[in-house]
Amino acid sequence: MKRTITTLLAAGAVGGAAVLGAAYFGLVNVGADDPHFPAVHAFLAMARDRSIEVRARDIEVPNLKDAALIKAGAGNYNAMCIGCHLAPGVEKTELSQALYPSPPDLTKIGVSGDPAVVFWTIKHGIKATGMPAWGKSMDDQYIWGIVAFLDQLPQLNTEQYQAMVASSGGHQHGGGESDMHNHEGQHGGAKFEHGSHGDSAGHSDSEAAHDHGGTPSEPVPVADHHGDHQTAKAHSAHPASPPPKTHVHKDGKEHTHDK
Ligand code: HEC
Repeated sequence: MKRTITTLLAAGAVGGAAVLGAAYFGLVNVGADDPHFPAVHAFLAMARDRSIEVRARDIEVPNLKDAALIKAGAGNYNAMCIGCHLAPGVEKTELSQALYPSPPDLTKIGVSGDPAVVFWTIKHGIKATGMPAWGKSMDDQYIWGIVAFLDQLPQLNTEQYQAMVASSGGHQHGGGESDMHNHEGQHGGAKFEHGSHGDSAGHSDSEAAHDHGGTPSEPVPVADHHGDHQTAKAHSAHPASPPPKTHVHKDGKEHTHDK
């Protein structure tokens, strides 16, 4: 017995040293274009799922069929999530293709499983994956709106999706909002918003600067008033000028920024 334990401890120490040595000598490729080994992938997925399940256990889920909640979520989803998680009529974006692990297509999975888990994931994000912690800038009620909207998303076609976003009153957060609030990572999102904007000087320059032979996502003419900021933020060629404090949507709604 004593001998078995000694052997196991020795094997563990050798294994640990090998892993440490491999990492130290740079054998681990951290490139996002080099997938994990299947065993590493399975381990990380298990750790993520269990971590979230345990933390989401006591979260109380509100009524996700509440029409006002769903409506509010539509605008926020469209403004903050589609660059990575897609939308009806948007099959891929640069981010959706380039991130690793890849962002799941939420138009297909919506809320699969426990809504509390989805809420926790949106609020806290997932380390080292590209999934941001939206709770840093969004109050819980807005996050629940997105969860309620995600619950409907797999049933929506492109027209229904656009109608919901248009009726949503756009993008609203509670507290903690800043100029930077969503716009890195919205490259793909910004692209198809160009179609609906004739109002922002400098759009056409950045379109030209943007020409890098990628595969653009299909244009979706959804009114989103943030396209102009996104463009300014996403393109370094574009001179950084602060966005206007107040701007008016096509539908006449006025939106004011805190900063
Ligand atoms: C910059 C890209 C990016 C943005 C923007 C983004 N996400 Fe994510 N998200 C990810 C990635 C990457 C993952 C996958 C992480 C993983 O596999 O562990 C993810 C995972 C998720 C998941 C877990 C899905 C599942 O079942 O595995 C949910 C839910 C989610 N995101 C919702 C959102 C919502 C809602 C928004 C907008 C408020 C958003 N995300 C914005 C990158 C992003």
